[in-house]
Amino acid sequence: MARIDPTNIEQAIRDSADAARPHARKGEVADYIPQLAELDPDRFGLALVELDGREHVVGDADECFPIQSMSKLFALVLAMQRLGSDRGVSEEIWTRVGREPSGDPFNSLVQLEHERGIPRNPMINAGALVIADLLIEHCSDPLDSLTGLIGELAGEPVRIDPEVAAAEDATSQRNRAMGNLMASFGNLTNDIDAVLDVYNRQCAITMSARQIARSVRFLADDGVDPASGRTVLSGSLARRVMAVMLTCGTYDAAGDFAFSVGLPCKSGVAGGILAVAPDHSGICVWSPPLDAMGNSVAGRVALHELTERLELSIF
Ligand code: DON
Repeated sequence: MARIDPTNIEQAIRDSADAARPHARKGEVADYIPQLAELDPDRFGLALVELDGREHVVGDADECFPIQSMSKLFALVLAMQRLGSDRGVSEEIWTRVGREPSGDPFNSLVQLEHERGIPRNPMINAGALVIADLLIEHCSDPLDSLTGLIGELAGEPVRIDPEVAAAEDATSQRNRAMGNLMASFGNLTNDIDAVLDVYNRQCAITMSARQIARSVRFLADDGVDPASGRTVLSGSLARRVMAVMLTCGTYDAAGDFAFSVGLPCKSGVAGGILAVAPDHSGICVWSPPLDAMGNSVAGRVALHELTERLELSIF
């Protein structure tokens, strides 16, 4: 990708933020737990971190919020590290979870019954529960490994908010139902309580947009974290992670995101959306109000504006 003048990037993130902010009021902040219901709908942060380390931020880019479903990306990366081969994909993962968009809400149970307990992909709740199950088998302390990986990529330690984790636990009936249904098909090895504990706490990891943007740069850099030079995943696996993000990372809106943003993305219900611009940068936007599919309304607009202005679409 051609080098973009950093002055243009500064201007582009400011203009994109200005264009996106008014759209926030069209959405609704998630209200299934008080910690999300209380989020200020006017919070807005946008961060773009280039592979050479230059950081461009606007608004509340240093305020931490629960990463929620964005954790599904890091959990998949950790599972691939532990299970994957450098040559390609690990069958142990992909016999238990698919790689197809679901076309259903992120917490839907419907397909699981028809498809005999194999979730469509690791970016929806059922798929993330299978990944959590795999992490329990392959890590002595999955959350320690996960926060360790993310902290290393973010350049500073990250924490789990215990109140968010407890609230997730108290409202995990649908996820528990999914876990039990998958267990009935033999696709969950560990006790559902242990799996939910990992999943609920990974959703409760809190990070800022700046930290998140830093932490996905390795995907833009062929699997190598540019900050440390360490290979996180082989280039081959990094490309596959981005393929899953592009097709499944924003649930039922993945087609619309491919069309309007043109980058691999992953969203979370606290209003964060992370994106990867290959060979260029890691990006994260945060604006709490969501659309009906669970993606940040202003976040999507900001990413659209930014990729248009900087010509970052992969297409
Ligand atoms: O498991 C759940 O349903 C919540 N913790 C929400 C996860 C999430 O972010 C889904 N996405 N947008």
